[in-house]
Amino acid sequence: MKMILTASRNFIWIYALVLLAFSARADDGHDLWLRPVNAKPVKVTGVNAKSPMMGIAKKEIEQRWLGAENATVEFRIVKDPTVKTDGFKITGNAISATSESGILYGAYELLRRQQTGDLSNVISNPSYQRRILNHWDNLNGSIERGYAGNSIFWRSGDNAFTVTEKDKQLWQEYARANASIGINGSVLNNVNASAQILGADQLKRLVAIAAVLRPYGIKTYLSINFASPIGLGKLPNADPLNPEVIKWWKEKVAEIYKLVPDFGGFLVKANSEGQPGPQDYKRTHVDGANMLADALKPYNGIVMWRAFVYNASEKDRAKQAYLEFMPFDGQFRDNVIIQVKNGPIDFQPREPFSPLFGALKKTPIMPELQVTQEYLGHSEQLVFLATMWEEMFKSDTYQEGKNSTVARVTDGSIFPQKYTAIAGVSNVGLDTNWNGHEFAQANWYAYGRMAWNDQLDSKTIADEWIKLTFAPADVNNNWKNGFLEPVKKMMLESRETAVDYSMPLGLHHIFAGSHHYGPGPWWAPAGTRKDWTPPYYHQADANGIGFDRTKNGTDAVDQYHAPLAADFNNVATTPEMYLLYFHHLSWDYKMKNGKTLWDDLCSHWDSGVKQVRQYQVVWDKVEPYVDAQRFARVQEKLRRQTRDAQFWKDACILYFQQFSKRPIPDYVERPVNN
Ligand code: GCU
Repeated sequence: MKMILTASRNFIWIYALVLLAFSARADDGHDLWLRPVNAKPVKVTGVNAKSPMMGIAKKEIEQRWLGAENATVEFRIVKDPTVKTDGFKITGNAISATSESGILYGAYELLRRQQTGDLSNVISNPSYQRRILNHWDNLNGSIERGYAGNSIFWRSGDNAFTVTEKDKQLWQEYARANASIGINGSVLNNVNASAQILGADQLKRLVAIAAVLRPYGIKTYLSINFASPIGLGKLPNADPLNPEVIKWWKEKVAEIYKLVPDFGGFLVKANSEGQPGPQDYKRTHVDGANMLADALKPYNGIVMWRAFVYNASEKDRAKQAYLEFMPFDGQFRDNVIIQVKNGPIDFQPREPFSPLFGALKKTPIMPELQVTQEYLGHSEQLVFLATMWEEMFKSDTYQEGKNSTVARVTDGSIFPQKYTAIAGVSNVGLDTNWNGHEFAQANWYAYGRMAWNDQLDSKTIADEWIKLTFAPADVNNNWKNGFLEPVKKMMLESRETAVDYSMPLGLHHIFAGSHHYGPGPWWAPAGTRKDWTPPYYHQADANGIGFDRTKNGTDAVDQYHAPLAADFNNVATTPEMYLLYFHHLSWDYKMKNGKTLWDDLCSHWDSGVKQVRQYQVVWDKVEPYVDAQRFARVQEKLRRQTRDAQFWKDACILYFQQFSKRPIPDYVERPVNN
């Protein structure tokens, strides 16, 4: 009797645990867009049994096959000039590629197509050779601009350098998620880099991480501190022309490649925001970048040298990168790529593209996008960034005639480039769902998909992501109309909504100081940074608002190629979304819709709030289609987003009204000053 009781008690326990495991799995968001499916039996042929990468591709097919039962999937390594490295061809159930990585990406694509209901054949080649995530992870485990917990790579404390099974498991899941969307590189530490990243313990950890990422086709890279020869090497300086310094870097690079033979290279933030760099020794970006490039060259390593440079002395921060880098075009080694943020200021919700795109003609550029939502509501707000990136990729620079889009001047379509690359600042952390907000996962997904195909539109990406992340096994029209379509619409509008409630019509950098969450057009730091002190960015005064970058102002317009320089110089031909980025206008300036500028600004702030309120309604209605946990988490976050959008509106209207002295239009919800 006792035995029976114990057995049944055990059974209840096991049953409860299984239930718990099942429900946790269903709701915690950890599986991202790779949620378990009811796979059908399948046979995979053409697998090189010795290759870990092929093994992964095979396992993925076996675990996620939704095609015909007992079908055969064929892997074929072929010689085919239409298929580039990493590219693949899918013909029925056959995946052919010129490399094993192509087979892996082809496998993920075939599975994605099955799950999203697209069974057509395809040839697919990546737009950029190197599709990289930048982790702004500090060695103590914190993450600069990270909103989803601490680093998955680094931690402080006694066991900081112990590689645990849990670490390896997490790195593997991370690698798998990346490979499934084509990402093939990870920079493991913050651009504001500690010299210690090149220390012995840290390099040992690099070895361990690289070992887990490698079979998924992911190369590892490190951000370096330009002054490492001082901080780590105890040399008196880090002058890039000093033979001792050159020798130090050569030896350091040799040490790294001995440990990690497929190491990708260095990312460098130099002479920016207080970071050391070659200018400290009256040397140039070329001197600094080329010195490192020479050290990396024998191993096929690259230098990603950032163009995010600005300081208080330049009258217009937007101009500085162009001014500093254009004189050096053609002087960098061929393994240097200049990494340029999408906009000239700093990852704002909307900026025109950086004028460096297409202007540097003999120096390759890699676009840098920010996946983590520094200025777009952290992981508290639902903002789908693909529409913003699509706007950037499709912007025409006119640098080599019409259709010199940002995509084409950076992906090798126009300029012959030995290397093409793209970077996204990651939003990954230790949070169970990786990204903090369920919908922030869509930005990681979208970055990978666009790095693979810079012509992909955001609508397609949203559609795919929703199906992979939320679709039940039995997709029907109810689900499509009740969930897919309204959620997709909300995602596609969400970035414009964020622009509306935060910085409409080309306003920029009016964010709260330091943390950049919420409004702060009044924010002034202690000290003498004129470039951070109002009215620097918005230039609001009794006469009007906006930054005059025309020929009468700072002449930043002239950094753009014709016809854009003239278009942006003229208020009538400047797209209204960039109006106050390029022009200082009177509060009564007449907008195309007939409203005054002041009234239109108020309308944008107000409609931003109303749109988020509408998202709450949309989400409330989809409840029957989502598991309870994910439903509740998103609902909660949307509620906060509405409150914060309202704060943006109220704060901006009240702050700027001090200058405009105009009444708030009567169709706008009035702010409450408390
Ligand atoms: C922004 C961000 C910083 C970051 C910098 C960079 O200014 O706020 O945290 O270090 O960009 O990209 O280097």
